[in-house]
Amino acid sequence: MAKVIQSKLAWALYLLHLLLLISIHGSTSDSISSEGFCAVNNGADCGLPSPYTKILIKGGTVVNAHHKQVADVYIEDGIILSVGPNIRVPDEDIRIIDATGKYVMPGGIDPHTHLDMEFMGTATIDDFFTGQAAALAGGTTMHIDFVIPINGNLTAGFERYKHKASKAAMDYGFHMAITKWDEDVSKDMEVMVRDHGINSFKFFMAYKGALMVNDDLLLEGLKKCKSLGALPMVHAENGDAVVEGQTRMINLGITGPEGHALSRPPVLEAEATARAIRLAAFVNTPLYVVHVMSIDAMEEIAKAKKAGQRVVGEPVVSGLVLDDSWLWHPDFTTASKYVMSPPIRELGHGEALQAALSTGTLQLVGTDHCTFNSTQKAFGLDDFRKIPNGVNGLEERMHVLWDAMVETGKINVMDYVRITSTECARIFNIYPRKGAILEGSDADIIILNPNASFEVSATSHHSRSDTNVYEGRTGRGKVEVTISRGRVVWENDALNVMPGSGKYIKMPPFSYLFDGIDKSDAAYLSSLRAPVKRASAAS
Ligand code: URP
Ligand code: ZN
Ligand code: ZN
Repeated sequence: MAKVIQSKLAWALYLLHLLLLISIHGSTSDSISSEGFCAVNNGADCGLPSPYTKILIKGGTVVNAHHKQVADVYIEDGIILSVGPNIRVPDEDIRIIDATGKYVMPGGIDPHTHLDMEFMGTATIDDFFTGQAAALAGGTTMHIDFVIPINGNLTAGFERYKHKASKAAMDYGFHMAITKWDEDVSKDMEVMVRDHGINSFKFFMAYKGALMVNDDLLLEGLKKCKSLGALPMVHAENGDAVVEGQTRMINLGITGPEGHALSRPPVLEAEATARAIRLAAFVNTPLYVVHVMSIDAMEEIAKAKKAGQRVVGEPVVSGLVLDDSWLWHPDFTTASKYVMSPPIRELGHGEALQAALSTGTLQLVGTDHCTFNSTQKAFGLDDFRKIPNGVNGLEERMHVLWDAMVETGKINVMDYVRITSTECARIFNIYPRKGAILEGSDADIIILNPNASFEVSATSHHSRSDTNVYEGRTGRGKVEVTISRGRVVWENDALNVMPGSGKYIKMPPFSYLFDGIDKSDAAYLSSLRAPVKRASAAS
Protein backbone atom coordinates (compact mmCIF):
# COMPACT_ATOMS: atom_id res chain seq x y z
CA MET A 1 0.00 0.00 0.00
CA ALA A 2 2.80 2.39 1.02
CA LYS A 3 4.46 1.59 -2.30
CA VAL A 4 1.31 2.46 -4.24
CA ILE A 5 1.01 5.78 -2.40
CA GLN A 6 4.66 6.51 -3.09
CA SER A 7 4.35 5.75 -6.75
CA LYS A 8 1.17 7.88 -6.93
CA LEU A 9 3.18 10.66 -5.34
CA ALA A 10 5.90 10.20 -7.93
CA TRP A 11 3.35 10.46 -10.73
CA ALA A 12 1.82 13.57 -9.19
CA LEU A 13 5.25 15.15 -8.99
CA TYR A 14 5.90 14.08 -12.55
CA LEU A 15 2.68 15.65 -13.80
CA LEU A 16 3.56 18.83 -11.91
CA HIS A 17 6.95 18.80 -13.59
CA LEU A 18 5.24 18.35 -16.94
CA LEU A 19 2.90 21.27 -16.32
CA LEU A 20 5.93 23.38 -15.51
CA LEU A 21 7.62 22.35 -18.74
CA ILE A 22 4.45 23.09 -20.69
CA SER A 23 4.29 26.56 -19.17
CA ILE A 24 7.89 27.12 -20.24
CA HIS A 25 7.72 25.63 -23.70
CA GLY A 26 4.05 26.04 -24.62
CA SER A 27 1.89 22.95 -24.98
CA THR A 28 3.99 19.80 -25.23
CA SER A 29 2.35 18.57 -28.38
CA ASP A 30 2.42 22.08 -29.84
CA SER A 31 6.10 22.53 -29.24
CA ILE A 32 6.84 19.17 -30.77
CA SER A 33 4.48 19.39 -33.71
CA SER A 34 5.50 22.98 -34.40
CA GLU A 35 8.87 21.43 -35.15
CA GLY A 36 7.06 19.28 -37.66
CA PHE A 37 9.04 16.52 -36.06
CA CYS A 38 6.48 13.86 -35.23
CA ALA A 39 4.51 14.67 -38.36
CA VAL A 40 7.41 14.20 -40.75
CA ASN A 41 9.10 11.55 -38.77
CA ASN A 42 7.62 8.63 -40.59
CA GLY A 43 5.72 7.38 -37.62
CA ALA A 44 8.51 7.53 -35.06
CA ASP A 45 7.10 8.29 -31.66
CA CYS A 46 7.65 11.44 -29.63
CA GLY A 47 6.46 10.36 -26.23
CA LEU A 48 6.50 12.00 -22.84
CA PRO A 49 9.74 12.16 -20.90
CA SER A 50 10.27 9.27 -18.55
CA PRO A 51 9.15 10.05 -14.99
CA TYR A 52 11.98 8.09 -13.41
CA THR A 53 14.88 9.96 -11.86
CA LYS A 54 16.28 6.85 -10.19
CA ILE A 55 17.49 4.04 -12.41
CA LEU A 56 19.35 0.84 -11.67
CA ILE A 57 20.97 -0.83 -14.68
CA LYS A 58 21.65 -4.41 -13.71
CA GLY A 59 24.09 -7.02 -14.87
CA GLY A 60 25.54 -5.44 -17.99
CA THR A 61 29.17 -5.20 -19.02
CA VAL A 62 30.12 -1.67 -18.04
CA VAL A 63 32.73 -0.33 -20.42
CA ASN A 64 35.08 2.60 -19.94
CA ALA A 65 37.99 3.54 -22.16
CA HIS A 66 40.51 1.53 -20.14
CA HIS A 67 38.44 -1.01 -18.25
CA LYS A 68 35.38 -3.19 -18.46
CA GLN A 69 33.56 -5.21 -15.83
CA VAL A 70 30.23 -6.88 -15.27
CA ALA A 71 28.53 -4.47 -12.88
CA ASP A 72 25.41 -2.57 -11.95
CA VAL A 73 25.06 1.18 -12.41
CA TYR A 74 22.86 3.26 -10.14
CA ILE A 75 21.70 6.71 -11.24
CA GLU A 76 19.91 9.41 -9.33
CA ASP A 77 18.87 12.85 -10.61
CA GLY A 78 21.08 12.74 -13.67
CA ILE A 79 24.26 11.63 -11.92
CA ILE A 80 25.89 8.20 -11.64
CA LEU A 81 25.93 7.46 -7.93
CA SER A 82 27.54 4.04 -7.93
CA VAL A 83 29.08 1.43 -10.19
CA GLY A 84 29.81 -2.07 -8.94
CA PRO A 85 28.57 -5.61 -8.60
CA ASN A 86 25.19 -6.30 -6.98
CA ILE A 87 24.26 -2.77 -6.00
CA ARG A 88 21.44 -2.82 -3.46
CA VAL A 89 19.02 0.09 -3.41
CA PRO A 90 15.74 0.74 -1.58
CA ASP A 91 12.89 -0.83 -3.48
CA GLU A 92 10.94 2.34 -4.26
CA ASP A 93 10.29 4.36 -7.40
CA ILE A 94 13.34 2.97 -9.06
CA ARG A 95 13.32 1.95 -12.66
CA ILE A 96 15.26 -1.30 -13.06
CA ILE A 97 16.75 -2.12 -16.44
CA ASP A 98 18.18 -5.57 -17.07
CA ALA A 99 21.33 -5.25 -19.21
CA THR A 100 22.49 -8.87 -18.97
CA GLY A 101 24.52 -9.80 -22.06
CA LYS A 102 24.68 -6.19 -23.19
CA TYR A 103 27.22 -3.37 -23.05
CA VAL A 104 26.63 -0.38 -20.82
CA MET A 105 28.72 2.48 -22.17
CA PRO A 106 29.10 6.25 -21.96
CA GLY A 107 26.79 7.96 -24.44
CA GLY A 108 28.50 9.02 -27.63
CA ILE A 109 29.93 12.53 -27.92
CA ASP A 110 30.08 13.89 -31.44
CA PRO A 111 32.79 16.55 -31.73
CA HIS A 112 31.63 17.88 -35.09
CA THR A 113 28.10 18.91 -36.10
CA HIS A 114 26.37 21.74 -37.95
CA LEU A 115 22.77 22.06 -36.77
CA ASP A 116 20.67 24.91 -38.15
CA MET A 117 23.70 26.36 -39.94
CA GLU A 118 23.32 28.94 -42.70
CA PHE A 119 25.63 27.74 -45.44
CA MET A 120 25.91 27.98 -49.23
CA GLY A 121 22.74 30.01 -49.60
CA THR A 122 20.55 27.78 -47.47
CA ALA A 123 20.42 26.29 -43.97
CA THR A 124 20.99 22.76 -42.73
CA ILE A 125 17.72 20.91 -42.43
CA ASP A 126 18.28 19.52 -38.93
CA ASP A 127 17.95 22.01 -36.11
CA PHE A 128 18.90 21.60 -32.47
CA PHE A 129 15.80 19.53 -31.82
CA THR A 130 15.58 17.20 -34.80
CA GLY A 131 19.35 16.73 -34.99
CA GLN A 132 19.53 15.90 -31.31
CA ALA A 133 16.49 13.60 -31.47
CA ALA A 134 18.33 11.73 -34.21
CA ALA A 135 21.49 11.68 -32.11
CA LEU A 136 19.71 10.24 -29.07
CA ALA A 137 18.04 7.53 -31.16
CA GLY A 138 21.52 6.53 -32.30
CA GLY A 139 23.19 6.59 -28.88
CA THR A 140 24.87 9.99 -28.94
CA THR A 141 24.12 12.07 -25.85
CA MET A 142 26.27 15.15 -26.43
CA HIS A 143 27.62 17.00 -29.44
CA ILE A 144 29.74 20.07 -30.06
CA ASP A 145 28.42 22.38 -32.75
CA PHE A 146 30.21 25.17 -34.60
CA VAL A 147 29.04 28.73 -33.95
CA ILE A 148 29.42 30.76 -37.14
CA PRO A 149 30.05 34.47 -36.43
CA ILE A 150 27.78 37.06 -38.04
CA ASN A 151 29.85 39.21 -40.40
CA GLY A 152 32.88 38.09 -38.41
CA ASN A 153 31.34 39.15 -35.10
CA LEU A 154 31.74 36.46 -32.44
CA THR A 155 29.31 37.86 -29.88
CA ALA A 156 26.52 38.22 -32.42
CA GLY A 157 27.19 34.67 -33.62
CA PHE A 158 27.15 33.33 -30.08
CA GLU A 159 23.82 35.03 -29.30
CA ARG A 160 22.31 33.66 -32.52
CA TYR A 161 23.39 30.11 -31.67
CA LYS A 162 22.17 30.43 -28.09
CA HIS A 163 18.75 31.14 -29.54
CA LYS A 164 18.97 28.33 -32.09
CA ALA A 165 19.88 25.92 -29.28
CA SER A 166 16.99 26.92 -27.03
CA LYS A 167 15.09 23.91 -28.38
CA ALA A 168 17.89 21.50 -27.44
CA ALA A 169 16.87 18.12 -26.08
CA MET A 170 20.30 16.94 -24.91
CA ASP A 171 23.61 18.35 -23.75
CA TYR A 172 25.72 20.27 -26.22
CA GLY A 173 28.74 22.56 -26.38
CA PHE A 174 30.08 25.05 -28.88
CA HIS A 175 33.23 25.54 -30.91
CA MET A 176 33.47 28.88 -32.68
CA ALA A 177 34.64 29.66 -36.21
CA ILE A 178 36.94 32.64 -36.81
CA THR A 179 36.25 34.22 -40.18
CA LYS A 180 37.96 37.62 -39.95
CA TRP A 181 40.66 39.24 -37.83
CA ASP A 182 40.78 42.51 -35.94
CA GLU A 183 41.12 43.76 -32.36
CA ASP A 184 37.44 43.09 -31.64
CA VAL A 185 37.71 39.48 -32.73
CA SER A 186 40.84 39.02 -30.67
CA LYS A 187 39.13 40.50 -27.57
CA ASP A 188 35.93 38.54 -28.18
CA MET A 189 37.92 35.30 -28.26
CA GLU A 190 38.95 36.09 -24.69
CA VAL A 191 35.31 36.69 -23.74
CA MET A 192 34.19 33.44 -25.36
CA VAL A 193 36.75 31.45 -23.40
CA ARG A 194 36.38 33.28 -20.11
CA ASP A 195 32.62 33.83 -19.97
CA HIS A 196 31.00 31.40 -22.39
CA GLY A 197 32.82 28.12 -22.00
CA ILE A 198 34.19 27.91 -25.53
CA ASN A 199 37.63 26.32 -25.64
CA SER A 200 38.16 25.73 -29.36
CA PHE A 201 38.18 27.91 -32.47
CA LYS A 202 37.94 26.70 -36.05
CA PHE A 203 39.73 28.13 -39.06
CA PHE A 204 38.41 27.23 -42.51
CA MET A 205 41.28 27.02 -45.00
CA ALA A 206 38.69 26.51 -47.77
CA TYR A 207 35.36 28.02 -48.91
CA LYS A 208 36.98 31.01 -50.60
CA GLY A 209 34.87 34.14 -50.51
CA ALA A 210 32.82 32.80 -47.60
CA LEU A 211 34.43 31.29 -44.51
CA MET A 212 38.03 30.93 -45.73
CA VAL A 213 40.94 32.52 -43.87
CA ASN A 214 44.45 33.19 -45.19
CA ASP A 215 47.75 32.22 -43.53
CA ASP A 216 48.12 35.64 -41.98
CA LEU A 217 44.84 35.22 -40.10
CA LEU A 218 45.57 31.60 -39.29
CA LEU A 219 48.88 32.59 -37.71
CA GLU A 220 47.24 35.31 -35.59
CA GLY A 221 44.54 32.85 -34.60
CA LEU A 222 47.01 30.14 -33.61
CA LYS A 223 48.91 32.59 -31.40
CA LYS A 224 45.71 33.83 -29.76
CA CYS A 225 44.40 30.31 -29.19
CA LYS A 226 47.65 29.32 -27.56
CA SER A 227 47.56 32.30 -25.20
CA LEU A 228 44.01 31.39 -24.16
CA GLY A 229 44.56 27.65 -23.80
CA ALA A 230 41.99 27.14 -26.55
CA LEU A 231 42.39 24.45 -29.19
CA PRO A 232 42.72 25.66 -32.78
CA MET A 233 40.88 23.48 -35.30
CA VAL A 234 41.31 23.52 -39.05
CA HIS A 235 39.27 22.55 -42.07
CA ALA A 236 42.33 21.69 -44.13
CA GLU A 237 41.98 22.18 -47.88
CA ASN A 238 43.78 24.72 -50.05
CA GLY A 239 40.82 26.98 -50.87
CA ASP A 240 42.60 28.89 -53.65
CA ALA A 241 43.55 25.67 -55.42
CA VAL A 242 40.01 24.31 -54.94
CA VAL A 243 38.65 27.27 -56.94
CA GLU A 244 41.23 26.56 -59.64
CA GLY A 245 40.21 22.88 -59.66
CA GLN A 246 36.53 23.79 -59.90
CA THR A 247 37.12 26.10 -62.85
CA ARG A 248 39.15 23.37 -64.53
CA MET A 249 36.25 20.91 -64.23
CA ILE A 250 33.64 23.38 -65.46
CA ASN A 251 35.85 24.21 -68.46
CA LEU A 252 36.06 20.49 -69.20
CA GLY A 253 32.26 20.36 -69.20
CA ILE A 254 32.14 18.34 -65.95
CA THR A 255 29.23 19.92 -64.08
CA GLY A 256 27.82 16.97 -62.11
CA PRO A 257 28.59 15.79 -58.54
CA GLU A 258 31.67 13.85 -59.73
CA GLY A 259 33.20 17.25 -60.53
CA HIS A 260 33.18 17.93 -56.79
CA ALA A 261 35.60 15.08 -56.08
CA LEU A 262 37.72 15.77 -59.16
CA SER A 263 38.12 19.46 -58.32
CA ARG A 264 39.53 18.99 -54.81
CA PRO A 265 41.83 15.93 -54.85
CA PRO A 266 43.68 14.59 -51.77
CA VAL A 267 46.80 16.62 -52.60
CA LEU A 268 44.92 19.82 -51.71
CA GLU A 269 43.86 18.34 -48.38
CA ALA A 270 47.39 17.12 -47.67
CA GLU A 271 48.94 20.49 -48.56
CA ALA A 272 46.67 22.42 -46.19
CA THR A 273 47.03 19.81 -43.45
CA ALA A 274 50.81 20.01 -43.71
CA ARG A 275 50.72 23.81 -43.77
CA ALA A 276 48.51 24.05 -40.69
CA ILE A 277 50.64 21.49 -38.87
CA ARG A 278 53.82 23.39 -39.66
CA LEU A 279 52.36 26.72 -38.60
CA ALA A 280 51.15 25.13 -35.35
CA ALA A 281 54.67 23.76 -34.81
CA PHE A 282 56.12 27.22 -35.45
CA VAL A 283 53.77 28.71 -32.83
CA ASN A 284 54.17 25.64 -30.59
CA THR A 285 50.48 25.06 -30.05
CA PRO A 286 48.36 21.90 -30.21
CA LEU A 287 46.25 21.53 -33.35
CA TYR A 288 43.03 19.64 -34.17
CA VAL A 289 42.42 18.67 -37.81
CA VAL A 290 38.72 18.10 -38.48
CA HIS A 291 37.32 15.62 -41.00
CA VAL A 292 40.53 13.89 -42.12
CA MET A 293 39.35 12.27 -45.35
CA SER A 294 42.46 11.00 -47.14
CA ILE A 295 45.51 8.83 -46.62
CA ASP A 296 47.55 11.83 -47.76
CA ALA A 297 46.31 14.09 -44.95
CA MET A 298 46.47 11.28 -42.39
CA GLU A 299 50.11 10.65 -43.26
CA GLU A 300 50.94 14.30 -42.59
CA ILE A 301 49.40 13.90 -39.14
CA ALA A 302 51.26 10.63 -38.56
CA LYS A 303 54.56 12.28 -39.50
CA ALA A 304 53.97 15.20 -37.14
CA LYS A 305 52.96 12.92 -34.28
CA LYS A 306 56.04 10.79 -34.83
CA ALA A 307 58.10 13.94 -34.45
CA GLY A 308 56.39 14.62 -31.12
CA GLN A 309 53.92 17.28 -32.23
CA ARG A 310 50.50 17.48 -30.59
CA VAL A 311 48.13 17.05 -33.48
CA VAL A 312 44.68 15.53 -33.11
CA GLY A 313 43.20 13.92 -36.21
CA GLU A 314 39.43 13.50 -36.47
CA PRO A 315 38.08 11.22 -39.20
CA VAL A 316 34.31 11.24 -39.79
CA VAL A 317 32.08 8.22 -40.30
CA SER A 318 31.43 9.00 -43.97
CA GLY A 319 35.17 9.07 -44.69
CA LEU A 320 35.70 5.81 -42.83
CA VAL A 321 33.05 3.66 -44.48
CA LEU A 322 31.99 5.22 -47.80
CA ASP A 323 33.83 5.71 -51.08
CA ASP A 324 33.53 8.23 -53.89
CA SER A 325 31.93 5.87 -56.42
CA TRP A 326 28.54 7.26 -55.32
CA LEU A 327 29.45 10.64 -56.83
CA TRP A 328 29.45 8.98 -60.27
CA HIS A 329 25.94 7.55 -59.74
CA PRO A 330 23.73 8.36 -62.79
CA ASP A 331 20.90 9.63 -60.60
CA PHE A 332 21.63 13.22 -59.47
CA THR A 333 19.64 12.96 -56.23
CA THR A 334 21.63 9.90 -55.21
CA ALA A 335 25.01 11.29 -56.29
CA SER A 336 24.52 14.75 -54.79
CA LYS A 337 23.73 13.49 -51.31
CA TYR A 338 27.38 12.36 -51.03
CA VAL A 339 28.80 15.83 -51.74
CA MET A 340 30.78 17.04 -48.75
CA SER A 341 34.15 18.68 -48.24
CA PRO A 342 36.82 17.46 -48.25
CA PRO A 343 35.26 14.90 -50.59
CA ILE A 344 34.65 11.26 -49.75
CA ARG A 345 37.67 9.58 -51.33
CA GLU A 346 38.34 6.58 -53.56
CA LEU A 347 38.06 3.06 -52.19
CA GLY A 348 41.05 2.35 -49.94
CA HIS A 349 41.20 5.64 -48.08
CA GLY A 350 38.48 4.63 -45.61
CA GLU A 351 40.22 1.36 -44.74
CA ALA A 352 43.50 3.21 -44.17
CA LEU A 353 41.78 5.79 -41.97
CA GLN A 354 40.22 2.96 -39.94
CA ALA A 355 43.66 1.43 -39.48
CA ALA A 356 45.03 4.81 -38.36
CA LEU A 357 42.19 5.06 -35.88
CA SER A 358 42.88 1.63 -34.47
CA THR A 359 46.55 2.45 -33.87
CA GLY A 360 45.98 5.93 -32.40
CA THR A 361 47.29 8.02 -35.29
CA LEU A 362 43.75 9.36 -35.53
CA GLN A 363 42.05 9.82 -32.19
CA LEU A 364 38.29 10.26 -32.24
CA VAL A 365 35.39 10.04 -34.66
CA GLY A 366 32.97 12.81 -35.58
CA THR A 367 30.19 13.03 -38.12
CA ASP A 368 30.30 16.55 -39.59
CA HIS A 369 26.51 16.12 -39.57
CA CYS A 370 25.46 18.84 -42.00
CA THR A 371 22.26 17.73 -43.68
CA PHE A 372 20.50 19.15 -46.70
CA ASN A 373 17.49 17.52 -48.29
CA SER A 374 17.23 16.56 -51.95
CA THR A 375 15.53 19.86 -52.86
CA GLN A 376 18.43 21.81 -51.37
CA LYS A 377 21.00 19.54 -53.03
CA ALA A 378 19.24 20.21 -56.34
CA PHE A 379 20.39 23.86 -56.19
CA GLY A 380 23.47 22.44 -57.90
CA LEU A 381 21.70 20.39 -60.59
CA ASP A 382 23.61 22.14 -63.37
CA ASP A 383 26.73 23.10 -61.42
CA PHE A 384 28.32 20.97 -58.70
CA ARG A 385 29.75 24.14 -57.11
CA LYS A 386 26.22 25.04 -55.97
CA ILE A 387 25.41 21.72 -54.30
CA PRO A 388 25.32 22.45 -50.55
CA ASN A 389 28.20 20.53 -48.98
CA GLY A 390 27.37 18.09 -46.22
CA VAL A 391 26.16 14.64 -45.22
CA ASN A 392 24.25 13.10 -42.31
CA GLY A 393 25.68 10.87 -39.58
CA LEU A 394 24.56 11.92 -36.09
CA GLU A 395 22.10 9.05 -35.78
CA GLU A 396 24.27 6.51 -37.58
CA ARG A 397 27.76 7.12 -36.14
CA MET A 398 27.60 4.75 -33.17
CA HIS A 399 25.98 1.89 -35.09
CA VAL A 400 28.04 2.13 -38.25
CA LEU A 401 31.29 2.37 -36.31
CA TRP A 402 30.46 -0.57 -34.07
CA ASP A 403 29.64 -2.72 -37.06
CA ALA A 404 32.61 -1.59 -39.16
CA MET A 405 35.26 -1.74 -36.47
CA VAL A 406 34.22 -3.76 -33.41
CA GLU A 407 32.33 -6.50 -35.22
CA THR A 408 35.26 -6.93 -37.60
CA GLY A 409 37.78 -7.14 -34.76
CA LYS A 410 39.69 -3.99 -35.75
CA ILE A 411 39.15 -2.45 -32.33
CA ASN A 412 37.85 -3.74 -29.02
CA VAL A 413 34.90 -2.44 -27.07
CA MET A 414 37.06 -0.20 -24.87
CA ASP A 415 38.66 1.38 -27.94
CA TYR A 416 35.14 1.96 -29.20
CA VAL A 417 34.25 3.91 -26.06
CA ARG A 418 37.50 5.85 -26.36
CA ILE A 419 37.01 6.97 -29.97
CA THR A 420 33.28 7.67 -29.71
CA SER A 421 33.18 9.38 -26.32
CA THR A 422 36.08 9.48 -23.87
CA GLU A 423 38.71 11.01 -26.13
CA CYS A 424 36.35 13.80 -27.11
CA ALA A 425 35.60 14.53 -23.46
CA ARG A 426 39.33 14.66 -22.67
CA ILE A 427 40.29 16.84 -25.62
CA PHE A 428 37.54 19.35 -24.87
CA ASN A 429 38.23 19.19 -21.14
CA ILE A 430 34.97 17.84 -19.78
CA TYR A 431 36.25 14.42 -18.67
CA PRO A 432 35.25 12.63 -16.42
CA ARG A 433 31.98 14.52 -16.15
CA LYS A 434 31.36 13.23 -19.67
CA GLY A 435 32.87 10.26 -21.48
CA ALA A 436 32.91 7.85 -18.54
CA ILE A 437 30.76 5.62 -16.41
CA LEU A 438 32.19 6.56 -13.05
CA GLU A 439 30.70 7.69 -9.77
CA GLY A 440 29.90 11.39 -10.11
CA SER A 441 29.81 11.41 -13.92
CA ASP A 442 26.73 12.67 -15.75
CA ALA A 443 24.28 9.86 -16.40
CA ASP A 444 24.61 9.87 -20.20
CA ILE A 445 24.57 6.16 -20.89
CA ILE A 446 23.75 3.75 -23.67
CA ILE A 447 22.93 0.07 -23.59
CA LEU A 448 24.07 -1.70 -26.73
CA ASN A 449 22.96 -5.20 -27.60
CA PRO A 450 25.73 -6.86 -29.63
CA ASN A 451 23.33 -9.60 -30.77
CA ALA A 452 20.70 -7.29 -32.21
CA SER A 453 20.95 -5.63 -35.59
CA PHE A 454 20.28 -2.21 -37.06
CA GLU A 455 19.12 -1.00 -40.44
CA VAL A 456 19.42 2.54 -41.78
CA SER A 457 16.75 4.16 -43.89
CA ALA A 458 15.47 7.65 -44.61
CA THR A 459 12.00 6.24 -44.05
CA SER A 460 12.72 5.47 -40.41
CA HIS A 461 15.53 7.83 -39.37
CA HIS A 462 14.86 10.85 -37.15
CA SER A 463 16.64 13.47 -39.22
CA ARG A 464 14.41 15.82 -41.20
CA SER A 465 16.28 14.94 -44.37
CA ASP A 466 14.56 12.87 -47.05
CA THR A 467 17.79 11.06 -47.87
CA ASN A 468 20.48 9.18 -45.96
CA VAL A 469 24.00 8.44 -47.16
CA TYR A 470 23.89 5.10 -45.30
CA GLU A 471 20.58 4.10 -46.90
CA GLY A 472 20.02 0.34 -46.71
CA ARG A 473 23.07 -0.33 -44.53
CA THR A 474 22.50 -3.11 -42.03
CA GLY A 475 24.78 -4.37 -39.33
CA ARG A 476 25.19 -5.94 -35.94
CA GLY A 477 25.00 -4.09 -32.63
CA LYS A 478 22.05 -1.95 -31.69
CA VAL A 479 21.65 0.83 -29.16
CA GLU A 480 18.51 -0.36 -27.38
CA VAL A 481 18.44 2.23 -24.60
CA THR A 482 19.74 5.79 -24.41
CA ILE A 483 19.80 7.60 -21.09
CA SER A 484 20.38 11.33 -21.27
CA ARG A 485 21.00 13.23 -18.03
CA GLY A 486 19.50 10.37 -16.08
CA ARG A 487 16.31 10.01 -18.14
CA VAL A 488 15.49 7.17 -20.50
CA VAL A 489 14.95 8.96 -23.80
CA TRP A 490 15.17 6.04 -26.23
CA GLU A 491 13.90 2.50 -25.76
CA ASN A 492 11.77 0.03 -27.70
CA ASP A 493 12.56 2.08 -30.80
CA ALA A 494 10.68 5.08 -29.39
CA LEU A 495 11.92 8.53 -28.46
CA ASN A 496 10.87 10.38 -25.33
CA VAL A 497 12.40 13.79 -25.79
CA MET A 498 11.42 17.29 -24.86
CA PRO A 499 12.55 20.43 -26.70
CA GLY A 500 14.22 22.81 -24.30
CA SER A 501 15.43 20.12 -21.89
CA GLY A 502 19.03 20.10 -23.22
CA LYS A 503 21.79 21.90 -21.36
CA TYR A 504 24.71 23.93 -22.59
CA ILE A 505 27.98 22.49 -21.33
CA LYS A 506 30.75 25.01 -20.71
CA MET A 507 34.17 23.67 -21.57
CA PRO A 508 37.17 25.12 -19.70
CA PRO A 509 40.44 26.00 -21.47
CA PHE A 510 43.86 24.35 -21.04
CA SER A 511 43.03 20.70 -21.66
CA TYR A 512 45.73 18.08 -21.24
CA LEU A 513 46.98 18.96 -24.72
CA PHE A 514 48.46 22.15 -23.24
CA ASP A 515 50.36 20.41 -20.42
CA GLY A 516 54.05 21.23 -20.67
CA ILE A 517 53.74 23.76 -23.50
CA ASP A 518 55.20 26.39 -21.15
CA LYS A 519 58.22 24.15 -20.56
CA SER A 520 58.86 23.56 -24.24
CA ASP A 521 58.51 27.30 -24.85
CA ALA A 522 61.12 27.94 -22.16
CA ALA A 523 63.41 25.31 -23.67
CA TYR A 524 63.03 26.95 -27.07
CA LEU A 525 63.86 30.39 -25.68
CA SER A 526 66.94 29.15 -23.87
CA SER A 527 68.08 27.35 -27.01
CA LEU A 528 68.22 30.54 -29.08
CA ARG A 529 71.81 31.31 -29.90
CA ALA A 530 71.15 35.02 -30.03
CA PRO A 531 71.37 37.93 -29.68
CA VAL A 532 75.06 38.13 -30.58
CA LYS A 533 76.95 40.97 -28.92
CA ARG A 534 78.77 42.76 -31.72
CA ALA A 535 81.21 45.60 -31.59
CA SER A 536 79.71 48.72 -33.13
CA ALA A 537 80.68 49.32 -36.76
CA ALA A 538 82.56 52.52 -35.88
CA SER A 539 85.01 50.98 -33.39
O1 URP B 1 30.87 19.45 -46.43
C1 URP B 1 30.98 19.81 -45.27
N1 URP B 1 31.98 19.34 -44.55
N2 URP B 1 30.07 20.65 -44.74
C2 URP B 1 30.10 21.23 -43.46
C3 URP B 1 31.03 22.39 -43.34
C4 URP B 1 32.42 21.92 -43.07
O2 URP B 1 33.28 22.06 -43.92
O3 URP B 1 32.69 21.38 -42.00
ZN1 ZN C 1 34.90 21.61 -42.72
ZN1 ZN D 1 32.08 20.54 -40.49
